[in-house]
Amino acid sequence: MKTIHITSCEELPQVARAIVEALGSRSVVALRGAMGAGKTTLIREIVAQLGAADTVTSPTFAIVNQYRGSGDRRIFHFDFYRIEDIREAYDFGYEEYFYSGDICLVEWPEKIEPLLPDERIEVRIAVDSPTARTFEIE
Ligand SMILES: Nc1ncnc2c1ncn2[C@@H]1O[C@H](COP(=O)(O)OP(=O)(O)OP(=O)(O)O)[C@@H](O)[C@H]1O
Ligand SMILES: [Mg+2]
Repeated sequence: MKTIHITSCEELPQVARAIVEALGSRSVVALRGAMGAGKTTLIREIVAQLGAADTVTSPTFAIVNQYRGSGDRRIFHFDFYRIEDIREAYDFGYEEYFYSGDICLVEWPEKIEPLLPDERIEVRIAVDSPTARTFEIE
C-alpha cells in the first residue's frame, strides 16, 4: 500500500501518476471517499495523464462517461452514487466494461461492491482539511 499526503490540488498530478504506475495489467480503479473528498477531481488528473483532452465531469444523467486517451485508449468514468438497486448495474451491462481491459474509474464503488472485479486498484481518500487530502492506494 502507498500513502500520499497532499496539501493542495496542485499536488494531484503525483497522486494520479502513482495510480497510473500501480495499474500494471489491471484496468479497474475503485475510488472511495466522502462526498466532496475529491474523487472526480482526481479522476480529471488521471484522465489527463492518460492523454485525454476531454472535459471530465461526473456522469449526471448516465452512469458512465467515456473519454479517449492517447493511442485511442478508451477510458470509462462511472459514478454509481444514484444507483438504487444493484440490478441497475446488471441491466446496464457492467461486465462488458469491467472485463474489457479498458480503463474503468469508479466513483461510489460501495454501491456495486459485489460486482467489482478482484483484479483492481483501491484508492481511499481522506479529507484532512479543506485543501489537504490523504490518499491510500493499494
Ligand atoms: N487536495 C485536494 N484534492 C482534491 N480536491 C480538493 C483538494 N483541495 C480542495 N479540493 C476541492 O474539493 C472538491 C472535491 O470535489 P469532487 O467533486 O472531486 O469530489 P467527489 O469526491 O467526486 O464528490 P462526489 O461524491 O459528490 O462525487 C473540489 O471542489 C476540489 O477543488
Ligand atoms: Mg464525484
